Amino acid sequence: MTILVVEGLSKSWGGNKAIDGMTFSLEKDAMALIGPNGAGKTTLLSSIAGITLPDQGRIIFDGIDITKTKIWKRVGLGLVKTFQVVRPFVSLTVRENLELFSRVHGGSDIDSVLEVMGLSQFGNKKARELSHGNLKRLEVAKALMTNPKLLLLDEPIGGLSNNEAVGVIDALSSLKKKGTKMIIVEHRLSEIFPFVDSVVVMDKGKKIFQGTTTELFDDEKVREAYMGGETNVDS
Ligand SMILES: Nc1ncnc2c1ncn2[C@@H]1O[C@H](COP(=O)(O)OP(=O)(O)OP(=O)(O)O)[C@@H](O)[C@H]1O
Ligand SMILES: [Mg+2]
Repeated sequence: MTILVVEGLSKSWGGNKAIDGMTFSLEKDAMALIGPNGAGKTTLLSSIAGITLPDQGRIIFDGIDITKTKIWKRVGLGLVKTFQVVRPFVSLTVRENLELFSRVHGGSDIDSVLEVMGLSQFGNKKARELSHGNLKRLEVAKALMTNPKLLLLDEPIGGLSNNEAVGVIDALSSLKKKGTKMIIVEHRLSEIFPFVDSVVVMDKGKKIFQGTTTELFDDEKVREAYMGGETNVDS
């Protein structure tokens, strides 16, 4: 059984159709969700996570229709999203940030989460002392405290240096090996493509492609819409 099925999902902000009849399912373990700025990727992830209520369509998670389910119940079912912009409590330590999150949402062992995210040595550091790379890891670590089956990641390496990005991708790889499924929204394609099993491309709220990374580069529609005919796809 596929863990996530999205059927005919639509969401407008005022007159602006941010998602326009999106249908896709998560076939394997890790999927990249890509598309130009404003394509609707964050709105889609937020709708799946329960942060945004869609106007139309259905979301089936682990065999359950969760379209109208409250966000905290979705977290309890094993579905959680990280934010595009990190938001830790800066005056608390990394460990305290995770403790706080686990008090609200229950779940995993802090030491194992620190370890899988490569943050063990930073447990007692205040969040404000962390590099941007480690803050991004902390954002994922917070989500992991809820013991998710499916992790929705909104630009996990956005704004990071190449070295920092490699660190985050390594951490996500070990998570994937442990069986956590994920949907990753990113603009830095070359860094996440080696790690994902499939790709969905959105443009103007619609799905214009679903397939493997290899198939993607042969697709005329994708080249036109997403890359404007360019072969260098990183922004
Ligand atoms: N809370 C909101 N209120 C009003 N309009 C919104 C809101 N969130 C998103 N939008 C609009 O919906 C459209 C899709 O935005 P969204 O943030 O989902 O795109 P995105 O693909 O995540 O873009 P980016 O790659 O820049 O993060 C845009 O036109 C955006 O301006
Ligand atoms: Mg976004």
